[in-house]
Formats: sequence, structure tokens, C-alpha cells
Amino acid sequence: MQTLSSVSAMQSFAAGLRAQGKRIALVPTMGALHEGHLSLIRLAASRAEAVIVSIFVNPTQFGPSEDFSRYPRELEADLAKCAAAGALAVFTPAVEEIYPKGYSTFITEEAVARPLEGVSRPVHFRGVTTVVAKLFNLIRPDLAVFGQKDAQQVAVIRKMVADLHLGVEIVAAPTLRDPDGLALSSRNRYLTLTQRADALALSRALRRAQEMVAHGERRVDRLVAEATHLLAQHRRVRVIYAAIVDRDTMETVREVRPGQTILALAAWVDEVRLIDNEIL
Ligand code: PAJ
Repeated sequence: MQTLSSVSAMQSFAAGLRAQGKRIALVPTMGALHEGHLSLIRLAASRAEAVIVSIFVNPTQFGPSEDFSRYPRELEADLAKCAAAGALAVFTPAVEEIYPKGYSTFITEEAVARPLEGVSRPVHFRGVTTVVAKLFNLIRPDLAVFGQKDAQQVAVIRKMVADLHLGVEIVAAPTLRDPDGLALSSRNRYLTLTQRADALALSRALRRAQEMVAHGERRVDRLVAEATHLLAQHRRVRVIYAAIVDRDTMETVREVRPGQTILALAAWVDEVRLIDNEIL
């Protein structure tokens, strides 16, 4: 497996793959890789001959009071995991390589990115779309794999690709969970054991909503009320939003349309901010 850290080396490596007629799949990450990330790499490897993983803790998607400086960084372990999961190359640029001094161009998607995460994290998606567009431009992958765990991120990226004619196929991979239901996340390591127990309320609320929909419930207010009620039983959990939205537009819906509607949750568990969602 190749490790590349300069933009020019990454560009010529990807150009070489294209010249050989290889299909390229990109898996963008911020590192601290867990099984959820590895499932994306494996899915990518089943869809393309050449899998490129990027590992870059992207400063522009963190707000000023967020965890950029303490975000976990463990490159050596990550590289071994990428190799084992089937990556051909890993792109590990330094911040100055992606955002050199005087950098001033940003991509903003202005509809799908507005609600939910966009309300509490106003600069977040601008950073995500900018870095992903840059990765797409310099690698020019045929497809890119993202996790449904970050449902709004997938929707924003699909919209950006369509709006800007980027011609990259976006593949959404299912959310990997621990056996108790907690969605795998690099931020789970911030949780103590008691906080972790309370964090399970999110996946329980999602499962409960799915059960209600399976039993015929379509009324958004009932589903949101039940989810909020379940979350409220946990002292450490403070709900940021509990919303039933269309999976493509992130707009609230009047009624659940099975397969097209998601329940999206964001909550503080003490000082750890978690998000989760399920397709209803
Ligand atoms: P990061 O949080 O490292 O996540 C990288 C990818 O892994 C994302 O597509 C995310 O949705 C996916 N992922 C995270 N947890 C998952 C789980 N439990 N199951 C399946 N997939 C999961 O998301 C980002 O990085 C960044 O915003 C990025 C797209 C790299 C841009 O900087």
C-alpha cells in the first residue's frame, strides 16, 4: 500500500491509475478508523479496482469551540487498518498542503446543508463540501463511499455533485453499530462507561420509531414525541434536535414515507455531541 502526502504525488498517482484504465473509489475519512470506516473501504474494494482512502482532519469543518485540536490522531494504526481492509493507497496531506497560506476558495451548498447540523454547526458543511470537492478534483474518482451514519453529509454531497456536474457516483454505506446498538463513531472514545450507557438512548429511540412505523404509524408528531420522551428519561442526554425529514432534501415532512424518510437525532451526552439516524 502506498502512502502519499503531497497533492502533486496524489494527482500523479491517480492519473497513473486512470491511464491504466482502473476504476478508482475514494473513501474520505478523518482517521481514528473504526470498523464503520473499514466497512466503507471494503465496500469500495468490492466496487472498484483501486481504493484510495484519505485521512485528513479537516480544520475548516470544525467550529471555533469544537474538538479540532483534540480530535484523535493515530496514523500508524490507521495505515495498518487501511492495508488490511484492501486500500491501494492512503492520502495523508498536511493542513498546509490542502489549505496553503492565503487559501480563500470555499464551496457552499445552500439548501440541504441549512437545517439540522447546519443550525448548530454553521460552518461545518462548508468545510465538508470544500474538502470533498478538492479531493474529487485532485483524485478524480469514479465513485466515493460515505456512511449513512452522517445522513445529512451524504445528502449535501450528492447535491453538490449534481449541482456542479462533478460526475462522481456517491455510494452510501449502512451504519455499523456495536452489538448494544451504539453507532460506531470516532467520538465514542470521549464517553465514560456511564455516559456510554446513556448514549444508547439514541439508538433505542431510533429502533422504537422504526417499530412504530413497521406497525403502521405515519404521524410525524407521534414519532417525534415518542423519541423525545425516550431520550428525556436519561439525565445526561440533552436533545439538540429530533427531526423526521426527507432523506434527500433534509426538509421536514408531514407524514412518513417508508424508505424515503429518516429520523435524525443529535444530542449532548454531557459534553459529548453525538448524532445518529435511521431510515424509517
Ligand atoms: P469521518 O467522521 O472520519 O467519517 C468518515 C466516513 O465514515 C463518513 O462517510 C462517515 O459517515 C463514515 N462513518 C462514520 N461512522 C460510521 C459507522 N458507524 N458506520 C458506517 N460508516 C460510518 O465524515 C467525515 O469523516 C468527514 O466529514 C469527511 C467526509 C472525511 C470530510 O472531511
